[in-house]
Amino acid sequence: MAELRLSDTASADVEAGALVVPLVRTSDGPVLASGHGLPRSAVSHLRSAIDTLHLTGDLGEVTLVPGVPRVMAPLVALTGLGARRGRSPLDPEQVRLGLGAATRRLAGRDHVAICPPSDDPSGLRAALEGAALGAYATTGYRSRHDDIRAVQTVTVLRCATPEASGSHARRAEVVGAAVALCRDLVNDPPNILTPERFAEVVTTETRGTRTTVSVLDDQALRTGGFGGILGVSAGSSHGARLVTMSHRPRGARGSIAFVGKGITFDSGGLCLKTPAGMLAMKTDMAGAAAVACAVLAIAHLRLPIEVTGYLALAENMPGASAQRPGDVVAIRGGRTVEIVDTDAEGRMVLADALALASESTPEAIVDIATLTGAQITALGPRIGAVLANDEQLQAEVVAAGHSCGERLWPLPIPDDSAATLRSTVADLRHMGPTDGGMLYAAGFLREFVGTAATGSPIPWAHLDIAGPALNRDDAYGYVPKGGTGYGVRTLVALAERFAAR
Ligand code: BES
Ligand code: MN
Ligand code: ZN
Repeated sequence: MAELRLSDTASADVEAGALVVPLVRTSDGPVLASGHGLPRSAVSHLRSAIDTLHLTGDLGEVTLVPGVPRVMAPLVALTGLGARRGRSPLDPEQVRLGLGAATRRLAGRDHVAICPPSDDPSGLRAALEGAALGAYATTGYRSRHDDIRAVQTVTVLRCATPEASGSHARRAEVVGAAVALCRDLVNDPPNILTPERFAEVVTTETRGTRTTVSVLDDQALRTGGFGGILGVSAGSSHGARLVTMSHRPRGARGSIAFVGKGITFDSGGLCLKTPAGMLAMKTDMAGAAAVACAVLAIAHLRLPIEVTGYLALAENMPGASAQRPGDVVAIRGGRTVEIVDTDAEGRMVLADALALASESTPEAIVDIATLTGAQITALGPRIGAVLANDEQLQAEVVAAGHSCGERLWPLPIPDDSAATLRSTVADLRHMGPTDGGMLYAAGFLREFVGTAATGSPIPWAHLDIAGPALNRDDAYGYVPKGGTGYGVRTLVALAERFAAR
């Protein structure tokens, strides 16, 4: 997580370990993006470096050039932003990815300065966001502490945008820190980040904000009738936790609830996964991590909206008292569910948390979960799915994601969902057909969303992020390998949109 600063220092004079200068690809080949403010001798040196090294300006291309004449920084990092079409402004996501690639590549240097690539405020804002998101390195658990440290301080030079405000920097720094914490939580090993520990971390992180936290332990969950979470947790030697985080500022405009799936390890339970299928299952708490970190960011930014985050935390293990296929459990509120496959555990913990969230009738409920393998099959590793009981909210979530570079795609809940989920022994079964598994999983969740005072269902959207929560491939742009922190930015952007209505 990096500290962000704005400075009016000339790019040639800034004292930093490296100076990042963006390149854009034009019909005349790669050129330095406007507004770098470098002296002529530096520019001609960089132009010949571009020629000699056959640079393209493509997104992701980062080239280190030492000893540029008349530049104080010992190193210039040329970072490609991809094509610029005519005179139209650069796509903010290109800027984020390009500058994120640069700060990621420059890990190990404490202080990096950046020339924003364009003269419009949205370019500066995207530069701040990308730089903050790229300045991340995994905190490993190696016994020799030789991990390379992320860039600590990023100075964004206001070369061409003198009027740009510090509020963009503040927001990017807060959101960058929240995304970094989310990535750390997702990357944490499952023997360390247990449900109990997760609840402790969240409690500690809220200190210094006005967020209140309440933690229900196993005893409280039994008293409260949370049979979904307790059933999933039954085979684990760790306890379950249901954490509620509340941000209730004075003069709040509206209210929204976020609900996250927090399975700290998903073995599948008695319906055990294969070893390969289990490998990434320490990341099955990415939804809860996104909720926790989004609420923290919202609290630090003091957004004028009431936000409550619910984290449904449990470990899904096949211990001697594990739940069985055929078991019937009662969800918070009393409705009963027949367990078909113990590996469909996410929807069970979410059902309890959605029922609880509904009790305070917020204006909208958004849940987020690494819920189904079918999500990855449908949309691949980089795009999340949004399913909803309300098309307007669904569109709002897609737009919030688009505004920050988290791609989300709307999908439908089938009309036969409720009928398909009928059970012969309980009110519901928790699974429909395998084909369209993501859609029927959402159909199951929809059953536990309560009604508003008007008598119609509370507007609800479900984000299935099984794919984009984890980057199994190499790092790219501002996205590291491993936990991506996906969802944090969409939830913060959504809260901002609600607050601005
Ligand atoms: N956590 C998994 C979903 C998952 C799979 C996330 C792969 C990320 C990568 C979830 O609990 C699960 O096991 N889902 C099953 C549901 C099935 C048993 C109905 C699945 O998708 O196969
Ligand atoms: Mn599972
Ligand atoms: Zn799972």
